[in-house]
Amino acid sequence: MGKKILLEHIDKPEIKGIEGYIKYGGYRSIEKALKKMTPDEITEEVKKSGLRGRGGAGFPTGMKWSFLFKGSDKPRYLLCNADESEPGTFKDRLIMEKIPHLLVEGMIASSYALGVRTAYIYIRGEYMYILRILEQAIAEAYAKGYLGEKILGSDYSLDLYVHPGGGAYICGEETALIESLEGKRGNPRIKPPFPAVAGLWGCPTIVNNVETIAKVPFIINEGGETYSKIGIGASTGTKLISACGNINKPGVYEIELGLPVEEFIYSDEYCGGIKGGKQLKAVVPGGSSVPILPQRLVTKTAAGTPRLMSYESLAEGGFQTGSMLGSGGFIVFDEDQCVVRNTWNFSRFYHHESCGQCSPCREGTGWMEKILHRLEHGHGHMEDIDLLWDVQRKVEGNTICPFGDASAWPVAAAIRHFRDEFEWHVLNPEECTRRNYGMGVAAAEPELV
Ligand SMILES: Cc1cc2nc3c(=O)[nH]c(=O)nc-3n(C[C@H](O)[C@H](O)[C@H](O)COP(=O)(O)O)c2cc1C
Ligand code: SF4
Repeated sequence: MGKKILLEHIDKPEIKGIEGYIKYGGYRSIEKALKKMTPDEITEEVKKSGLRGRGGAGFPTGMKWSFLFKGSDKPRYLLCNADESEPGTFKDRLIMEKIPHLLVEGMIASSYALGVRTAYIYIRGEYMYILRILEQAIAEAYAKGYLGEKILGSDYSLDLYVHPGGGAYICGEETALIESLEGKRGNPRIKPPFPAVAGLWGCPTIVNNVETIAKVPFIINEGGETYSKIGIGASTGTKLISACGNINKPGVYEIELGLPVEEFIYSDEYCGGIKGGKQLKAVVPGGSSVPILPQRLVTKTAAGTPRLMSYESLAEGGFQTGSMLGSGGFIVFDEDQCVVRNTWNFSRFYHHESCGQCSPCREGTGWMEKILHRLEHGHGHMEDIDLLWDVQRKVEGNTICPFGDASAWPVAAAIRHFRDEFEWHVLNPEECTRRNYGMGVAAAEPELV
């Protein structure tokens, strides 16, 4: 059984309320931080811990905090990114739904470290029922003196708000989130300036993921060094993985980084193997935006070493033979799944969610969806595969925000590793048509030829 930092008490229902949470050791970090530590000492501990952002990019949290501009008298803000809209990712939801005070505690401790007096949790609109859970937790924290004026009798005061988004995936991108919070359309901003210098209302701002913030109480309580000893190499600590697809036990697991991928998929402690005893075909290990890994590269790298659940090991081989840990949305495909169909499905999502500011993304996502629709529905030509490759190449790296890359990478990896499957769709149009229309699976699908 691996180390649990976040989910140790997840099975205790009373942990949702403040009394139960305190009973299991909750809010200790606030006492310690306010009474025994300076803000800079907390940032130092976070640096020492090696904690990396859990929103997808894995940027070192302590380093990000140290970029927060402190040279003006402008207010500083901490924004918690609870937008969680990446297909396959549903881990932050678990924390907010079952242990909301862990996030509230993390927000208070982090805000103190950053000299923040007003903080926000920006939550995706579809999580409205969780917004109410968080509001209840925040009200309890105010009532107990953990929020508001002069917290626990100290000189430190903090107000914390929850703000719902309108249901747009792009509002998870940090600058789009800031625009949305300011009441505008969620269009990403050109960087620089980075939010740490000019973020919310033009003021210095830190944006961190829910899971990142939820790790801070442990780091304060146990020390950064203790945290850094969990995990492997530069992938310190634990990571929440939301596992779904053709596995026996879908769900959210807290793993110690460095766990072999093979153990994660096949052991009963985690995914419990492939459903129905079928063969593994592929895995998307970090949410829909990361490259798909074909079976031969899932449990082993191209060099033949065991593939581990870590930032480095999942990326080994670059995009030729590797992928990314990303947000931890682990999607497993068995031998019966169609990669072309899945890639089309992802592309449909990206086309729908593009904010439309940059033409390569706005137009390219539409092209990719159309070509994939054609191929999947038996109307494709061999040249379409190269056209699709060409389009994704023109999107990647040519846009304001990383959404463009996120829409291109899954397409590139699908062609790279499963070109024969794309060709099969061109060579067997009747079979595609039968599958998509004859069986009624997508009978109502509009024709996009
Ligand atoms: C299109 C897009 C969607 C994103 N969605 C999320 C999200 O839902 N949650 C999240 O924490 N980060 C998301 N991110 C990453 C954020 O921009 C940002 O890097 C992150 O919130 C930083 O927190 P961290 O350092 O704790 O990971 C998204 C990025 C992009 C480009
Ligand atoms: S890459 Fe796409 S989502 Fe990002 S700013 Fe450009 S058009 Fe909008």
